[in-house]
Amino acid sequence: MKLETSLSKKLGLKYPFVAAPMFLISNKEMMLAAAEAGILGCMPSLNARTSEKFREDLAWVRGKTDKPIGINLTIGLTPKERLEADFAACVEFGVPVILTSYGNPTDYVKRAHDAKALVFHDVITLAHGKKAVGAGVDAIIAVSAGAGGHAGRISPFVLIPWLKEELRVPIISAGCISDGRQVVASLSLGAELCYLGTRFIASAECGAADAYKQMVVTAGPEDIVYTDAVSGIHANFLKSTVPENFSPDRTPEGAKRWKDIWSAGQGVGLIHAVKPMGAIVEDLAREAHDTWKALT
Ligand SMILES: Cc1cc2nc3c(=O)[nH]c(=O)nc-3n(C[C@H](O)[C@H](O)[C@H](O)COP(=O)(O)O)c2cc1C
Repeated sequence: MKLETSLSKKLGLKYPFVAAPMFLISNKEMMLAAAEAGILGCMPSLNARTSEKFREDLAWVRGKTDKPIGINLTIGLTPKERLEADFAACVEFGVPVILTSYGNPTDYVKRAHDAKALVFHDVITLAHGKKAVGAGVDAIIAVSAGAGGHAGRISPFVLIPWLKEELRVPIISAGCISDGRQVVASLSLGAELCYLGTRFIASAECGAADAYKQMVVTAGPEDIVYTDAVSGIHANFLKSTVPENFSPDRTPEGAKRWKDIWSAGQGVGLIHAVKPMGAIVEDLAREAHDTWKALT
């Protein structure tokens, strides 16, 4: 089986996988390790406390590799001045992929294209997908039910082929990919890249606390709760970290959203060890080949 798609070839990736951006916990070390492993390493620009720090992170990665990386601009959640400074840093360092989420990507698509970068936009509904395609994005990240972070409600079995039929742009499969079986499934449904968040929480390089990584390793899908109580938007969390009576306007003492309330997707059920990013990537590729061989 060829672990290669038009989009992975265009990006120059060894494998059609993305280490997806994760608020607070993806970092420059993960981006570098992913890029070196032959996949697209990403982080939200906001994970650096200031634009200056973000610029330093990009300079650090660029000093060590010229392989492709992606930066997530959380449009609606980032003050305009910060967003502009972060975008300028992406252009300065030749970041080839901008991942837009939480807002309208229109402004950034043309400017990214002028800078020869591609824009992938994150959606959970067809309506938002249509708007993003209208804005000229290069691919749609289809975030399915069960994904870590702000997840959708539609099964990936339907979401990926449906958005592909409706939108006619490359579709990226996000949600519940933990091993090579879901890689093969995603490709068979028509996805051009597999976008993994939760699997990479349990990586040596990830900035998550050790207890968080261990919980990802030991939890099952029934330990995940889909709730809007934490941020006002439905997302998946490790149930035992969500305090009782938590609501977007009433935060019990001490519990900080995302920092102490840990997000992860249903894919936790298939994650059994914390490993270096490079080893996880090779596991995924080997498992995908084994799955394909067993089917043919
Ligand atoms: C802890 C955590 C934080 C996340 N933060 C972001 C974010 O800041 N921006 C974003 O676009 N997606 C974010 N996501 C979603 C991921 O980029 C990705 O879509 C998702 O993890 C894929 O599903 P999976 O976790 O089942 O692999 C986050 C996911 C997790 C688990």
